[in-house]
Amino acid sequence: MAEASPAGQVLRLLLGGNGEHSGQKMAHRLGISRAAVAKTVSSLRAQGLEISAAPRRGYRLVSEPPLVLPAMVEARLKFGSLGLPLHHFQEIDSTNLEARRRAEAGAPHGTCLVAEHQTAGRGRLDRRWQAPQGRALLFSIILRPTLGLRRVFALNNLISLAVCRALEKHGGVDAAIKWPNDVYLEGKKLAGVLTEFTSRAEAVEYAVVGVGLNVNQEPAWLAQLDQPAMSLLAATGHAWERATLLAQILEEMTALYDHFMAGGGEELAQEYAQRSLILGLEVKVRQGKAMRQGKAVGFAPEGALLLEENGQVSPIHHGDVSLLAWEGKT
Ligand code: BTN
Repeated sequence: MAEASPAGQVLRLLLGGNGEHSGQKMAHRLGISRAAVAKTVSSLRAQGLEISAAPRRGYRLVSEPPLVLPAMVEARLKFGSLGLPLHHFQEIDSTNLEARRRAEAGAPHGTCLVAEHQTAGRGRLDRRWQAPQGRALLFSIILRPTLGLRRVFALNNLISLAVCRALEKHGGVDAAIKWPNDVYLEGKKLAGVLTEFTSRAEAVEYAVVGVGLNVNQEPAWLAQLDQPAMSLLAATGHAWERATLLAQILEEMTALYDHFMAGGGEELAQEYAQRSLILGLEVKVRQGKAMRQGKAVGFAPEGALLLEENGQVSPIHHGDVSLLAWEGKT
């Protein structure tokens, strides 16, 4: 199981306690030399972290840059969390594409790729996903679950649940999910999830779960998008630390994933239903050229939407949902 890098471990110590940390004690705690601590502190400074050093008092973390650097996320993650190893890119075509390339090359379960900017960000149904440099959380996780194909769609639901849980627990933000995996806030899209997978002999070989979460985009930027969109900044009036938020989402994702793999799908489907934007409402589901219409009456543990059409309930495994009440608005 991947552990945080030395930089992540040193930063974790700097974030804890009363703020001042002797090099000697840190070296002892981490089982490395004082020289190795000093070298790691230098590498953190080179990445933009401000760390003061005073004789006899030791190191103190003064500030962190507004980036999603691996050490900043790792320092806030528990051992064994999804998200490790973590790779950071100033710019990349798409974290999902890079994750698929790395998964093909054998990258381990839990690997996370995060970018400040994507030149070819991809959404569901071949749409583009846009976000300005350094403002959004754009990341993908490689999962290698022991899972039959029938249950793979539940991974979608897990990540949108993880985003909602993290926002509620740490930011008091009450977001909702539009099946399968759009996260909505104040009736506008806050985050989207793109899950892609490959299979062999009816089992998942690997899945890539990609998340685009609007964090610090200004209202004026959101207004030029072709769909109504929301950001955490626009909703709460303050900027959010993206590295901390990513660590919180990964912690929630880990707990949900472990629970799901241990057979807790039914419970998670209930929580998913509680956070649903569409439960009990009349919806239209577009599946390619076909359109279905009915009432969203529930969600199956493997992720399907239960749609009631003319009194008959059937599971829907994929599609794009719109609310009848929103006709013409999205
Ligand atoms: C959607 O709502 O259509 C899904 C959007 C998913 C966007 C994210 S951003 C990080 C990852 N990389 C991509 O190219 N897409 C996903």
